[in-house]
Amino acid sequence: MNEVQPPQSALAPLDEEFAAAVIEGLSHAQKSLPCRYFYDARGSELFEEITDLDEYYPTRTELAILREHAGELARRVAPGGVLVEFGSGSSRKTEILLDAMPDLAAYVAIDVSESALEGARERLAACYPNLRVITRVGDFRMPLDLPTELADAPRLGFFPGSTIGNLVREEAVGLMRDMASTLGAQARLVIGVDLRKDVARLLAAYDDAKGVTAAFNLNLLTRINRELGADFDLSGFAHEAHFDPDESRIEMRLVSLWPQQVRILGRSFRFAPQERIHTENSHKYTVEDFLALARRAGWSPVALWRDPAHLFSVHELIAS
Ligand code: SAH
Ligand code: AVI
Repeated sequence: MNEVQPPQSALAPLDEEFAAAVIEGLSHAQKSLPCRYFYDARGSELFEEITDLDEYYPTRTELAILREHAGELARRVAPGGVLVEFGSGSSRKTEILLDAMPDLAAYVAIDVSESALEGARERLAACYPNLRVITRVGDFRMPLDLPTELADAPRLGFFPGSTIGNLVREEAVGLMRDMASTLGAQARLVIGVDLRKDVARLLAAYDDAKGVTAAFNLNLLTRINRELGADFDLSGFAHEAHFDPDESRIEMRLVSLWPQQVRILGRSFRFAPQERIHTENSHKYTVEDFLALARRAGWSPVALWRDPAHLFSVHELIAS
């Protein structure tokens, strides 16, 4: 059975939110744009291409960890539970959990990308015809309301991909705290967290040789042009990946190649040569640092799985 839910009302006028976020982000001395806006239909396609790149180790590494440990995880999940995934994208990783947990009452997929959710919903309907799939187009930071008949079902949260790393630390604690209250007492959370490692390897993962990550980054300007009628000249901006060791994060930026002016919704924004728009943070944690954040958010560790080279970690947490 499949259900498509309308966008959550708190998000309803997405264009206005997008417009306000863009105007606000470009009005500061340090220009920035929120990374959740990468994921229009083209952005979601480009993200999927990134996951296949040689340089982008996180996806294949996390898939291997999940394949190895899904059985163990499933043994701790009661039949009739609800799997709730935050930032589900294509839901490809989810299939590993769905195969290991055939007795779920429902799978809830939350994502800002309508096209990604729709693609996942169609594929899951074909592969798991008996699974109840509920899709929610919206921001995973918003409260989640589930159908009343599922209110008492035990919940397993799933937040793979190291999407938690795209939030700054305080926001990450806030989101995990909200997840604990959304998922309820005794809930579990399976969360993928990318680990701190050699800087050259990190930089290659965010600045690949084929230029797919550059296209993903620049697509944000294409989206602003299309949806907000702006006039960004894409040839005037270059993709940049930078590692900040103090924050332990990759920062993606768009660098203005010459002095230029861009018009958006009746306003003008000036860019100096080499001026940067900060478009994404991708934090790289040690296990200890991540667990300290998780504990502050009300989660206790149950299991930790890593690949042999310790590139990536998957944590199973329980609401404490
Ligand atoms: N979970 C998948 C996809 C990761 S990409 C994987 O592990 O491969 C990050 C996903 O989160 C994208 O599909 C994007 O659309 C979604 N996303 C990013 N920020 C979001 C937000 N604030 N609310 C809801 N979805 C978000
Ligand atoms: C979704 N998120 C965890 C990805 C990351 O690695 O930070 C998005 C991404 N940005 C560039 N490449 C992939």
